[in-house]
Amino acid sequence: MKTLRGWLSPLVYLSNNWISLVGVIVVTAATVSWMVFLPITLRGSALHPYFGIVLYLLLPGIFIGGLLLIPIGIYLNRRRKRAKGEMPTDFPPLDPHNPELRKLAAFVAGTTFINIIIASQFSYSAVRYMDTVGFCGQTCHTVMQPEFTAHQRSPHSRVECVTCHIGPGASWFVRSKFSGAGQVVAVALNNYPRPIPVPVRNLRPARETCETCHWPQKFGEDRLRDIVSYGEDESNTVSHTVLMLHLGGGMSRVGIHGRHLGEGISVRYYASDEKRQTIPWVEYTAAGKTTVYASGNANPDPSQLRQMDCVDCHNRPTHIYQLPVRAMDQALGTGEISAALPFVKKQGVAILKQPYATEQEAEARIPAALEDFYRNNYPQVYAQRRDEISRSAKALLAIFQHNVFPAMKVTWGTYPNNLGHTDFDGCFRCHDEQHTAKEGTTITQDCSACHNILASDEKNPKILVDLGLVQAAK
Ligand code: HEC
Ligand code: HEC
Ligand code: HEC
Ligand code: HEC
Ligand code: HEC
Repeated sequence: MKTLRGWLSPLVYLSNNWISLVGVIVVTAATVSWMVFLPITLRGSALHPYFGIVLYLLLPGIFIGGLLLIPIGIYLNRRRKRAKGEMPTDFPPLDPHNPELRKLAAFVAGTTFINIIIASQFSYSAVRYMDTVGFCGQTCHTVMQPEFTAHQRSPHSRVECVTCHIGPGASWFVRSKFSGAGQVVAVALNNYPRPIPVPVRNLRPARETCETCHWPQKFGEDRLRDIVSYGEDESNTVSHTVLMLHLGGGMSRVGIHGRHLGEGISVRYYASDEKRQTIPWVEYTAAGKTTVYASGNANPDPSQLRQMDCVDCHNRPTHIYQLPVRAMDQALGTGEISAALPFVKKQGVAILKQPYATEQEAEARIPAALEDFYRNNYPQVYAQRRDEISRSAKALLAIFQHNVFPAMKVTWGTYPNNLGHTDFDGCFRCHDEQHTAKEGTTITQDCSACHNILASDEKNPKILVDLGLVQAAK
């Protein structure tokens, strides 16, 4: 019967070969990096999912690979020694005087030390880097380009991707690893879906992320909105729709926020489609009383229900893609596109709606199309306002580039916006007077429940004149 030492000493002797020693280097490198990274993740700061790929997939893979090299090296060494007849019958004992053991121990200690120095130098900056919007948005450039571009131009452009997509705490961080890993594999294999499907299945309940910055009770005040639009006539006539939105929050009045998210209120619903655009069943609980509103005879299983939160209305808080008409109105409003050019709104929208197979094609055709329009139809305007036209033509192309991404099959309206009801169903997915409770009540579509319409497509609405925002008509 051999003792443990009797087993180990030939292994130590035989491990003195370069394959096993490389294995030792790899194993110590993986272990040290893992130990340096681990505390950072356990601290629970919001980290990028792909960082987890390194931590949970790549490092263990390297570790196991290194571990395998050691016995492989030993095995090959033994075969070689046997073949040459160099295999000793007696191995030096495992004590401090054994030179093989001393060499091995010194080697492990040396590589570990060097690894610690290297890992501690690069880990902090690597972690910081992976946390940044640049890494999330640009590493897989084509894949994330639509979201990255929209994010850069949104009210949340200073909020890092991970703040909404993962949020604080360790458990969501670990959960995100697994989906993040799947995503990277999909990108590597080039079989990821285009466009990226919504809803984001593993998105954290929004109240845990959004409310780290937004306090819903704050929305006590109503909000005045002046929606400016331009006509498709020759002079691109401006008009205003003015709404007083009853935002509410729970302190001063119960408005839009308070009615769905206030104290003791819970809304759960069932969507019959993937994108959550068709909602046949809604359950409303307030002050302990539960009412079910259904359209048709949906009878969903409790596991299919979704608890309504911020992103059921604000599903585009940062990846805001516009429709051509809206985008034109905005660019005309800021002056990026000159409202002095005849029919520019109509032409712009028409040009944007054309199909373009690639970004390059759009780049070549969009500005040219607008310039051609004036060259052919308004030669005088073209001669007098060339700079204005070429600037507007560039701005028109920019609208396209901010909203349409042929490589990802993202085009106008690919991602519906659920805030409002004019461009997409939005609020009217539920507020359609078709969802009826047993008592016969419905989810209201009363226009004044959500907003007072103070002006509807007017040139000089009195309310804006009174507020000094537009000039009274002469
Ligand atoms: C303010 C919060 C917020 C920030 C910051 C944010 N996202 Fe999102 N993201 C969302 C929400 C909300 C959705 C849509 C959820 C839904 O409908 O399921 C989403 C959806 C996505 C989608 C799915 C496709 C789509 O367009 O809906 C991708 C991909 C994505 N985000 C990537 C990113 C990247 C990359 C960044 C950083 C450049 C980022 N996000 C920053 C909130 C955010
Ligand atoms: C890290 C802090 C932070 C987080 C997290 C955050 N926001 Fe914001 N949000 C802001 C700031 C700051 C602004 C104001 C930007 C401005 O006024 O330019 C803002 C603005 C907004 C606005 C108003 C936009 C407008 O057009 O005026 C909405 C709506 C909003 N956030 C919704 C959300 C939702 C929904 C989430 C969660 C998915 C979220 N926010 C997460 C910081 C945050
Ligand atoms: C029932 C739909 C709905 C839900 C749920 C909802 N919001 Fe809103 N929110 C709105 C609407 C509508 C507006 C007004 C948008 C506008 O001005 O056009 C708004 C406006 C806002 C604004 C801008 C307010 C201001 O005064 O500038 C913020 C910030 C905001 N919401 C954050 C949130 C957060 C955070 C949550 C989740 C806790 C949330 N909302 C849930 C519908 C909703
Ligand atoms: C998932 C379904 C659903 C969606 C989507 C939804 N709501 Fe509601 N909403 C309800 C339910 C249910 C009630 C409560 C009905 C009741 O009083 O029993 C309600 C109540 C309200 C009320 C109070 C109405 C009253 O009678 O005073 C307002 C205001 C409101 N919602 C605004 C909005 C706005 C704005 C949006 C879109 C941004 C929206 N809701 C989207 C389900 C929804
Ligand atoms: C459930 C709440 C709700 C109800 C009911 C409702 N609206 Fe709205 N409406 C909204 C919200 C929220 C917006 C603002 C969307 C945004 O932020 O741009 C809006 C925007 C509008 C706009 C401006 C559209 C634009 O050009 O941007 C008009 C016009 C309008 N509503 C008309 C109506 C009329 C008419 C009714 C009655 C049949 C009605 N709404 C009922 C929530 C509601």
